[in-house]
Amino acid sequence: MSSPELDVVEFLLTAAIYTGNRDLDERDLPPRYRQVFWKDGAVERPLTTTTNTIAAATGVERPWEAISGLMFTDRDDFSGKIEFTDRGMAESWFLERISADALVENPTLAYAFGDRFDEVDYEAARETNRPIHADRVWIDSLLEEMFDEDEEEMLDLVEIRAPEEIKITLDDLVLTADQENEIHKIVKAIEHRDYLAEIGLREIGKLLFVGPPGTGKTSVARALAQDLDLPFVEVKLSMITSQYLGETAKNVDKTFEIAKRLSPCILFMDEFDFVAKTRASDEHAAIKRAVNTLLKSIDEISLIQDDVLLIGATNHPDQLDAAAWRRFDEIVNFPKPDAGMRSDILRIVTRRMEVEGFDPDALAEETEGLTGSDLRLVLREAVLDALTEERTTLTQADLMEAIAGFEERDNLKNMDMIEGDPDVLIAGGSDGHDHDH
Ligand SMILES: Nc1ncnc2c1ncn2[C@@H]1O[C@H](COP(=O)(O)OP(=O)(O)O)[C@@H](O)[C@H]1O
Ligand SMILES: [Mg+2]
Repeated sequence: MSSPELDVVEFLLTAAIYTGNRDLDERDLPPRYRQVFWKDGAVERPLTTTTNTIAAATGVERPWEAISGLMFTDRDDFSGKIEFTDRGMAESWFLERISADALVENPTLAYAFGDRFDEVDYEAARETNRPIHADRVWIDSLLEEMFDEDEEEMLDLVEIRAPEEIKITLDDLVLTADQENEIHKIVKAIEHRDYLAEIGLREIGKLLFVGPPGTGKTSVARALAQDLDLPFVEVKLSMITSQYLGETAKNVDKTFEIAKRLSPCILFMDEFDFVAKTRASDEHAAIKRAVNTLLKSIDEISLIQDDVLLIGATNHPDQLDAAAWRRFDEIVNFPKPDAGMRSDILRIVTRRMEVEGFDPDALAEETEGLTGSDLRLVLREAVLDALTEERTTLTQADLMEAIAGFEERDNLKNMDMIEGDPDVLIAGGSDGHDHDH
């Protein structure tokens, strides 16, 4: 049971305990608290509790208003500090109102009060709390340390997301049984990597996601990072060619260095087919060198030794050569969704919407060949169309219409613009629906 009042008191209490106890370090603070006090590579003591810091840490907009009814708090009008006048009273008030869950998510409180709850174990709370290196503030300080300003082009090649910034979760995605199975395996492997190292099993932790665009490859990789609380390092391989050539191999090296320094993390390489393409073509020598560096770095990195999970993705498996395939120990197929999956995807994307007469199975019947991404587009069109009529409630008919519209657009996209029927290229020249082709 959380309330603004309780949230603010929890924060004040945590700050007071943390400030007074040097045994505690940043791993003992919930991420949303410590980011407010992170400065020059450390959490600065004392944790000063002002309107600003409390609002930033708790999300409560008017913290003083939230707690001014309590007898044990006071605000210094001059400094803006909000503190307890009677800490003992604050503790009793707080402990009467919380359950063990609150302490499990706040190691500092678990440290101070864990002995009052059977279910709470300080070490376990500390262990499950996200490590500081997954926080945005830490990632930023690392990048600042690793790169000068004139190395900005490096940051076009990689994009790093903290798990807290990833909005998509595995619950938002409809997976095939095979995908679920692979994800489950890799989650277990990450959990037990000490054991795997012990028994000498190292050939694990390199996945290749294969499938047409829009089937969820990027989304699953990100959701995995979110689920496992790991930083997500995304490399856009096609950016290698747009780099200053002399620097590309060095930048590839640096990418792997970033991943190792951020570990445990996920290193995601989109457009992996790019690798094979450059090897086959007569690209510039510097680019070939960069790609060879890349392949070598992939060989050397390991989930077991470096705590880096490597995920490659490609829309064009046919373009991969043996050298590329060989580097992955699991291939995960991302097919276009079947009717059952399409129906589930439609249920998920309409989760927060009202649709009159909603029949996802009927819609699934009409959307053979569409991907998850296509289905999202269909829904977007339906929503926008309804809005033009000032409606925020959709109907099944709206969705059917959007599907027809999508297919029409798809036809246009695939049409040969030169040899195509000139009629359909002219507004009003066709109704756009039943022209054969
Ligand atoms: N199986 C799926 N379940 C739910 N949403 C999906 C699925 N596949 C794709 N999407 C949605 O389609 C969009 C594009 O997916 P994305 O992960 O970028 O595909 P890819 O990387 O394979 O091209 C995302 O918004 C994603 O949520
Ligand atoms: Mg993608």
